Amino acid sequence: MQTDFLVIGSGIAGLTYALKVAKACPDKKVLIFTKTTSDETNTKYAQGGIAGVWDNEKDSFDKHIEDTLIAGDGLCNEHVVEIVVKEGVDRIREIIDWGARFDKDDDGDYALGKEGGHSEYRILHHKDVTGREMERALLEAIKQQPNIEMITHCFVVDIITQHHLGYLVTKATPDIECFGVYALNLHTKKIEKILASITLLATGGNGQVYRTTTNPAIATGDGVAMAYRAKGRIENMEFIQFHPTALYEAGLRGQAFLITEAVRGDGGILRNIDGEAFMERYDERKDLAPRDIVARAIDNEMKRTGTEHVWLDCRHMDKEKFIHHFPNIYKKCMSMGIDITKNMIPVAPAAHYSCGGIKTDEWARTSIKHLYAAGECASTGLHGANRLASNSLLEAMVFAHRAYADAVKKIKDSSGEEWGIWDRDNIPDWRAEGTTAPKEMILITQSLKELQLLMSDYVGIVRTNVRLERAMRRLDLLHEETEELYKTTEVSPQLCQLRNMITAGYLIVKSATFRHESRGLHYNTDYLQKSGIVQNIVL
Ligand code: FAD
Ligand code: SIN
Repeated sequence: MQTDFLVIGSGIAGLTYALKVAKACPDKKVLIFTKTTSDETNTKYAQGGIAGVWDNEKDSFDKHIEDTLIAGDGLCNEHVVEIVVKEGVDRIREIIDWGARFDKDDDGDYALGKEGGHSEYRILHHKDVTGREMERALLEAIKQQPNIEMITHCFVVDIITQHHLGYLVTKATPDIECFGVYALNLHTKKIEKILASITLLATGGNGQVYRTTTNPAIATGDGVAMAYRAKGRIENMEFIQFHPTALYEAGLRGQAFLITEAVRGDGGILRNIDGEAFMERYDERKDLAPRDIVARAIDNEMKRTGTEHVWLDCRHMDKEKFIHHFPNIYKKCMSMGIDITKNMIPVAPAAHYSCGGIKTDEWARTSIKHLYAAGECASTGLHGANRLASNSLLEAMVFAHRAYADAVKKIKDSSGEEWGIWDRDNIPDWRAEGTTAPKEMILITQSLKELQLLMSDYVGIVRTNVRLERAMRRLDLLHEETEELYKTTEVSPQLCQLRNMITAGYLIVKSATFRHESRGLHYNTDYLQKSGIVQNIVL
């Protein structure tokens, strides 16, 4: 199969890019692969909203930039922050034009929310299901575009690359080139070779590496692992953001329901098991301090009092307003017997967002030629050591746009020779000789449990050198066993995902080990201070 533009992922980054390249090049083919259904993405679960400077009287670009830089704890790329904040508003306008609806107040102005780390009200939202609404609008717009084909249940196993020794000599251009992907079509059960002029990785995050996460099952770090195997550059993987308030359910493993930070923005108060509103002991911004601070404070309170959760108290909040803004949360709590007007909500931190990822430049170009990355799988420099709430939907749209602008220019300017370096007819098909169907699924499921436990216990909110060393030793063993299985077993999404998650875990631990300081989301009690040298960890 051949295409002009290949898009891996149907979340906000992949769909925004696909729509734009398809509109700009109506004579070119755009192919989107997604590993389950079209809308099963992190995007669908986004609750709080999308940050943007909308109220020009009270808010300003400078304030949003400043808030982003403060959250990022000295590691943001200031130029990129400026790009995202300034271009973001146009991207929000675009998605409104494509049909996304954001809540308005009685005067017909957008009802702006506030979350941790924001100095102003600037978050556009659709109730507490903002991502679902944005995903809906994008999917509907995609359907209207005749040159886009979306193939669901198609699992991309690896990207196809060729290394060019000639380039190594001059270093003028990257020495690795991407030609497309190998993908397991779950309808046909065959691994297909798909050749593309330009490929975009928009594969989302890796929350499933941890025992509990706000991320759905698809968030297994596939894009980062594929890019790493292809020798692309990966950056700042140690900065895993734990959301402070996932709904606590005893014994849960996997996806936890999120209680959006916007609930605290509207007045919700965190209390420890003794009923104390403890945040004022940790930060003067109390419940709306940046996420790393709130998550660490909760972690500390849980450890101090020997409990598995704290409480989110909404009992004092106006019931009608709560139901109006957070209907989904209200319904979910009610379904569990929690009446938010009478009962406090049990909450605990859960892995939520990967700030690092595939290193890109300001046009979403990776270190591999013809390969772009956007959305949560990318590391653009926006988030630094900690992401400001509701900045990721914004970043995904801004960089999807920038990838589109660069890719379209490249395709239109090129005479075709650029892609002729490797004879496409000689790109090998996938070789599966000598492999058999897995005999024991437990070899995969048990390794996954071990991985999630070790990452949560040793590489969580608070880290130490000894814990990181232990984690690495256990990861080595899991890696060895899984590679052995991979060589002898037929390719399946379960096995590939396990392999990718072990790689993501390895990258997180390796980067954490290299960072001899505590900064943003990386908190190591053996190095409590910030280092004088401000650096990104690139693997
Ligand atoms: P995703 O939306 O995750 O899409 C990834 C796509 O890649 C999926 O289609 C998947 O099938 C596909 N894929 C992955 N691997 C493969 C493979 N091997 N083969 C084929 N396809 C593959 N951010 C905000 O800014 N505001 C919020 O309010 C907010 N709330 C959030 C709430 C929750 C519960 C969660 C989990 C996240 C939230 N975030 C929020 C973060 C934000 O939603 C995500 O960072 C963003 O949606 C990621 O978009 P994406 O396009 O990069 O990836
Ligand atoms: C939330 O709604 O609390 C999540 C927002 C985000 O992750 O940006």
